[in-house]
Amino acid sequence: MSEDLKREAAARAIEDVRPGMRLGLGTGSTARHFVDLLGSKVAQGLEVICVPTSEVTARQAESLGIPLSDLDRLGRLDLTVDGADELDADLNLIKGGGGALLREKIVAAASDAMIVIADSTKVVEALGRFPLPIEVNRFGLGATRHAVDAVIKAHGAEGGLKLRGEDKGEVFLTDGGHLILDAFFGRISQPEALSRDLLDIPGVVQHGLFLNMCSKAYVAAPDGVKTLLK
Ligand code: A5P
Repeated sequence: MSEDLKREAAARAIEDVRPGMRLGLGTGSTARHFVDLLGSKVAQGLEVICVPTSEVTARQAESLGIPLSDLDRLGRLDLTVDGADELDADLNLIKGGGGALLREKIVAAASDAMIVIADSTKVVEALGRFPLPIEVNRFGLGATRHAVDAVIKAHGAEGGLKLRGEDKGEVFLTDGGHLILDAFFGRISQPEALSRDLLDIPGVVQHGLFLNMCSKAYVAAPDGVKTLLK
């Protein structure tokens, strides 16, 4: 799907930004457009203070002169705008295709509202077509992988698990220095139960299911941008 559509969705979310807001800035190719457009507004005098969800987004925001802070100083945020790898009709999400899921979830959970911006290819009837990213601690990987594999099989995963980057000879490391296991489901029928079962595994740091966190989505298609509300 084209960059133009991602930018159209991002432009709609910019309209929700008010002067003085404390904003969470997402990560990924769609969120990148939002940060870009926000940079233009800041250059025109808009005053906001932002918390980035990744080192990549922090660098982009800095280069555009967007004022940055952190959750230690701000505590809570008014709004987070981020992309998603999948969203369903209830605005439940899979995120983490870009590997920033932990910071994305911390920032979204600290925000009074979360808006997702996406093109229409991301909308699914049931989550799980996109591999679910599961962030794990490096210590004890073998045992964690074994336990995660058992959980995803019990939840009907069709395609097993992959350690991200392993097939390319360079294991992917998150901004927090953790690893990512991608779980190939096909369809996730009980996301809440899956979430609990994964978080019960000590080596699991976080997973990419964002349940009941997003209240609005701007979804861009060739015939226009649709607003989805929870
Ligand atoms: C980053 O970790 C992800 O959660 C992204 O927000 C998500 O993958 C969407 O990225 P794109 O906008 O690049 O598809």
